Formats: sequence, C-alpha cells, structure tokens
Amino acid sequence: MKILAIETSCDETAIAILDIKETKTETKVSVLGNALISQIKIHEQYGGVYPALAKREHSKNLVPILKTALKESGLLKNEKTKTFSTKDTNKLKTLLSHEPELFELICEELPNIKTPKIDLIVVTNGPGLEPALWVGINFAKALNFLWGIPVIPANHMEGHLLASLLKGVKNGNFTLKKPLFPMLSLLISGGHTELVLAKKWGVYKLIGQTRDDAVGEAFDKVARMLSLPYPGGPEISRLAEKYREKHLGEKSLYPLPRPMLHSKDFDFSFAGLKTAVLYTLKKISLNPASAGSGEHPSKPDVLAKITANIKESIACEFEDSATEVLLSKSERAVKKYKIKTFSLGGGVSANKHIRRSFEKSFADNFPETKLFIPSQTLTTDNAIMIGLAGYFKSDKKVARTSLSRIRAMGNLSF
Ligand code: KG4
Ligand code: ZN
Repeated sequence: MKILAIETSCDETAIAILDIKETKTETKVSVLGNALISQIKIHEQYGGVYPALAKREHSKNLVPILKTALKESGLLKNEKTKTFSTKDTNKLKTLLSHEPELFELICEELPNIKTPKIDLIVVTNGPGLEPALWVGINFAKALNFLWGIPVIPANHMEGHLLASLLKGVKNGNFTLKKPLFPMLSLLISGGHTELVLAKKWGVYKLIGQTRDDAVGEAFDKVARMLSLPYPGGPEISRLAEKYREKHLGEKSLYPLPRPMLHSKDFDFSFAGLKTAVLYTLKKISLNPASAGSGEHPSKPDVLAKITANIKESIACEFEDSATEVLLSKSERAVKKYKIKTFSLGGGVSANKHIRRSFEKSFADNFPETKLFIPSQTLTTDNAIMIGLAGYFKSDKKVARTSLSRIRAMGNLSF
C-alpha cells in the first residue's frame, strides 16, 4: 500500500511517502520519499513555538515539500500545462479559506502534476496546536478533492509509539514485528509525558501522565533560564554530558528534587522541578557563595568561568532528576503489569542519558522484557510515523470517517 503522510502538529512541516507491505511475520516499510522543514530557527526568538507563525510556515512549506517527496519517490509526473476550472478553483478556495497562501501555491503548482499512484493519504489530526493541525488537514482535503485519494486521520502520539517499534534494515527500509504483549510505552515529548499500556495490538490505555508540564517542556524552559537556545533539550543534554565526563560519580553541587518519585500512581510532575531550578539560580545570583558548596571567587573573569560550570552542573542535575523519575515510574509499571515489551518514544527519547539509563536498567533488571528505543531520526516529529499510524488504522472504522468529520483535535488522547 502506498501512503502519503502529512504532519503539521507543531513546528515541523513533514511529508513522507511510504510503501508498506505485509508478510507472514512482519510489516515492511519502505520510505520512498521523506521531506521535512523544521521551523526551529523561526521560533527560536520566541523561546517556544508561536502558533500563528507555525500555521503560516506550514502553509508556505507544504506544496514545496510535497513536490520534493514525490520527486524522491519517483512519483512526480508532470502534466501538460493545465489550469483549474473556475468550479474547481472555487471549491479549493472554500476548502482553504483559512489558508490563502496555501491556496495560491496549490493553484500555481498542482495543475501541472499528474495524480500520483498513491492509495491513501494520512494526516495528523491531533494532539498538537490546532491552527497548525488545520493546515495539514485542509491540505489533505484539497489533495483528496484534486486526486480522489481517500484521507484518514492519525494520532500523533500513536505515531511516536509505533515509530519506536521500527527496526532499520538499510537506507530507508524498516521492519516492524508485532510485539509481545503486554506492551508499555513511555512517550516523552515537548507536549506529552505518558505511560501507555497495550494489552493487545492497537488497544491502548493511558496509565500515567504529567499533571503539569511535559518533560520536554521542562527541558526547554530550564534551558531558557540558563540562556541556552531553543529547543533546549539537546542543549541541556550537551552541557550535562560535558559535566558528567568531568565529575562522574560526584554529588551534585546544586541538588534538585525528584518530583512524585514515591507517589503510588504512574503520574509525573515537572513544573516543580523547573521552579526548583529557578530558585537555585536566584540563590546563586544573590549570593554565589551560599548556593551549593565550594568557593566562588568574585573576580568577573573567574565568575564567568564558574557560571559555565554552574550551568553544566545544573543541566546535569536536572537531567538526572528527570531521568530518575521517568525510569523509576517505568520500572514500577513494568513490574506491576508484567510487561513483555517496553518502548521509548517522542522527541525527548533522543536524549543520550535517558537512552543509556533505560538500556542499563532493562539489561540489569528486566532481561526478559524486550526494549525498543527508536533511532535518533525517528524520535522527533516526522511524517513516517504518521503514515505508519494511518496504515494500521486503514482497515478499521476510522478509514470510513467522512472527510468533513476530520477535524483538528488539540487534546486528542489515547
Ligand atoms: O516529539 P517532538 O519532536 O515534538 C513534540 O511532539 O513535542 O519533541 C520535541 C521535544 C522538545 O521539547 C525538545 O527539547 C526535546 O523534544 N528534545 C530533547 C532532546 N532532543 C529533543 N530533550 C532532551 N534531550 C534531547 N537530546
Ligand atoms: Zn511529537
């Protein structure tokens, strides 16, 4: 089955074209085309994603990346110069009444493209930023109108979950074997921190989630406090790794709490941890010598050096704290539900320290449980995962959802 997948839930505009085949033992996924434009540079100045800007950028990016993905797949065939009829133009104008820029680009570029041989279009309908989600959804609807290809919605978080089960074979080829159940997935991203239990394929139960900030959000906010660029996750990780190399096994100069570590449930909380970092920084700036231990000379040049060291130390302690809570709750859930497969997914699962800590714990404590951690490129937002989520829904009720009922659902949950 050839799938065209569209992802616009946050700050990445992504389109992938997949060829998915089923064998007796596994699902084979070939990525024929994969195009992505990250808006990181645009949102950097705001320290986070600015929804109206994200919407505008998706509107600008979708048509060019569609062409790139089609070209990569060998599916871009040009039609003799053609223009849309007035009736078609009017219909498109109505469909894209909130995305005038996208409407213009479609009218300029798509009349000259032949309907590609694609069986299904999959588009993210949530969770995410609604204005951003709508751009992808309306684009999918416009393609359905022009090409007659059916459209189904996909849950972004289910995409992260399924992507974590993909095994790379060679360039752009993956396989997915149905895992052993029960399966538990820890999904950690900029908007979510969730423990999802699946007792069988495609049936999910949310057993724990954050009560306030998502762990990625905490990484980004702490990075901002430390004057590090957006997105903060990779920056915190870089500083923390540096510090760990120099001070392995040492007690932290600036200890931080482990929120909800001992609570009996599987929920998380990261807002308090973020605030604890803020208080620590305030304390240090008021009186450098009073916070943590060790001498803090006050000569500006020396202080500058120590500031870098303080930053690394706090980044490391923050990362340790977040990892400890994520791991401890996951371990407890693995024991309680006698988990046979565990997977880690979402942007924060790119984090080296988190990956290492889970690998070590599962090797030491749960050698019988199969651990899946996605390759770095599949951790952050992409359209491959969306195509996959749509594929496994394509024979279900969702495939018969009428087009007009596909809507952006910012808080879509499992
Ligand atoms: O899944 P994702 O790409 O987008 C959402 O659906 O939110 O996740 C983005 C999040 C950001 O908060 C980013 O800071 C975080 O993932 N992230 C990391 C790392 N790489 C990305 N957090 C910690 N360490 C990393 N190496
Ligand atoms: Zn995501």
